[in-house]
Amino acid sequence: MNIAVLISGTGTNLKALIDAENRGEFKSKISLIIADRDAKGLIHGYNANIDSFVIKDDDKLLDKLRDYSIDFIVLAGYLKKVPEEIVNNYENRIINIHPSLLPKYGGKGFYGMAVHEAVFKNKEKLSGATVHYVNNKLDDGDIVLQRKVDISKAKSPYEIRDMVLEIEHKILKDAIKKIEEENL
Ligand code: GRF
Repeated sequence: MNIAVLISGTGTNLKALIDAENRGEFKSKISLIIADRDAKGLIHGYNANIDSFVIKDDDKLLDKLRDYSIDFIVLAGYLKKVPEEIVNNYENRIINIHPSLLPKYGGKGFYGMAVHEAVFKNKEKLSGATVHYVNNKLDDGDIVLQRKVDISKAKSPYEIRDMVLEIEHKILKDAIKKIEEENL
């Protein structure tokens, strides 16, 4: 697949994907990186020689995806809502990585540290990460992969974040591999 990765933040998931591609862990190619702001994660695209752009205007987003003949989109910490036109043009070809065991701790307001703070406050023993298809509802599409981690010993939401991030970096590339195998 010809992949675009969309980011808004530090891009550790993007970096993990680039490294996995370079190790041949999946066949697809990351051809384009787009951020909705001047995200720190853009450095990973620069270092990997992958065309990267800051695009704030939704119309320009679809144009850029078409310019690069993108046929699969990965949201890796992308905080903006994907325009319906793009979701509808890329039905079942957009995935998102979410730092909880969806459907728990998903939906409005549940992103980044807010997720881990709620999990910690509720004294959950387990957390984890979920890769799901993107539809026009927040954190709602079919689950591609989900992996749990025991957080019973975590002493802060930050410890949970770090434990979950490690899972994210593994299951995002595994999800791409799984989708490639399903599309054979
Ligand atoms: C991750 O926690 C991811 O689950 C969420 O946003 C964060 C992105 O982190 N969607 P990074 O930018 O990949 O480091």
